Order: sequence, then structure tokens, then C-alpha cells
Amino acid sequence: MRIPYISILAASLATAGVSAAFSIPRFPFVDPSSNKHNQRVMTTNDLGPQIPMPPKKPSDQNAGGNGDLTISDILPSQRQINIFAGLTRDISSLTSRLESQLPSSNTTLLAPLNSAMSNLPRKPWEDRPGDTSGVSAESSEDKAAKNLRRFVLEHVVPVSPWEEGQKIRTLWSQENEEGKEGREIWWERRGGGDSGETERKVIMPGKVVVAGVVGRVGNGEVWSLKDVVNYE
Ligand SMILES: *[C@@H]1O[C@H](CO)[C@@H](O)[C@H](O)[C@H]1NC(C)=O
Repeated sequence: MRIPYISILAASLATAGVSAAFSIPRFPFVDPSSNKHNQRVMTTNDLGPQIPMPPKKPSDQNAGGNGDLTISDILPSQRQINIFAGLTRDISSLTSRLESQLPSSNTTLLAPLNSAMSNLPRKPWEDRPGDTSGVSAESSEDKAAKNLRRFVLEHVVPVSPWEEGQKIRTLWSQENEEGKEGREIWWERRGGGDSGETERKVIMPGKVVVAGVVGRVGNGEVWSLKDVVNYE
């Protein structure tokens, strides 16, 4: 059964040019071949040669920095995270932040890879387990939008550079009463040295592995993640 508000969500995501390979039919994402958003951005910014290329190995070496571009400019070029990138466009306060050149808007965007998004046990707009709000996303468009917003903003670290070990609340936690008692997140290096394992960054406390830094621009960085943050 298709509930009307799901269609509304789907429509808004579709106009945002969200690409997705979700196999779950009710999940409100659209045709993976769509690159409408890319084209729109490309017409306003000649990004061609400046687009950071995907890293050859999971480290930062590609991210040379580009002071003129914003996260908003480079997000559409990152196909491996385009499901998550599409969700960010649905949240206007975040869109403004990612476009902003103000130093106070610097952001480290933690973007789960498409593979992580496809493997989620439930959709980002569905209620979290143990949700006691008494309002169900199944019957409330507002609730579904709120759940989606929380999901996305849990992946927004409102600083950049974000130093190793620097504990910080995500944008969602900072904006919500509920989040005041919520967790701080930080990152650590694992492996490397004598461990015999490739060194990698992990987002703590959930030990979410950072696949790479896919972009470093004037207002922050985009990190791709092998899993999602604070999701049950
Ligand atoms: C914002 O990010 C830029 C680019 O990485 C950096 O040069 C600047 O120091 C940062 N500003 C703040 C306030 O963190």
C-alpha cells in the first residue's frame, strides 16, 4: 500500500534528483540513472577539472583542498554517496549550511556510502526502535520528515577541521533538547603501525569505519562511511 505522504516524500526527493539503488519498493528514492542535479550544478559552476577524484586507497591523499568550492558544489559529483547526498537536499537549513562560506558554518559531513544506505535495517524516515513519542511515521508525514531530518543531521559534524579525538555533538544533537543528553562523537585511528592492519579512521563510539575523505573544500570536508551513525 502506498500512503499519500510517502508519495509526497518520494516526489520531493525525486525533484532533488536523488539517485538510488534501493530495492525496497516503498523507499522514496528514484532512478539511479538520474543526474539532473549534477547537470544543474554543472551549469552554474564549471566543476569539471576541479572535482576531487575518488581516493585510490582509504586515506586523505586525494583531498588537496579547494578554497573556492563548497561542500554543496562537490556533493553531486560523488556518486558513491549520492543516496545520502540526496537526503541532505531535503533539509533547507542544512543546504544553506553546506553552501555557506562563513567559517562558523564549516562542516564535516559524514556521508554513508550507497552500500550502507541500501543495507539499512529500516528506512531513515521510519520510527526508531523504542520510539516513545506516541506518533507514528506510518500515519504522520511530519513524523516521517522529522525522522529523516534526524537521520541526516546525525551525520553533520558542525566543525572543520575536525581534529582526532575532538568530541562533539552532531548538528541534530545540538539542535534538540533530546540530544543534549545524547552522545558526543569523535574519531580515532585504528590499525596501522605494527598491527598489520591498514590504518583507518573510525567514528566513535560506534566504530564506524571511514572509507575515505572524498572531498576537502573551503567550508569543510566530506567523509564517506562504511556504515551509518547512531542508528538502531
Ligand atoms: C574553516 O575551514 C577552512 C578550510 O578548511 C579553514 O581554513 C578555516 O580555518 C576553518 N575555520 C574555522 C573557524 O574552523
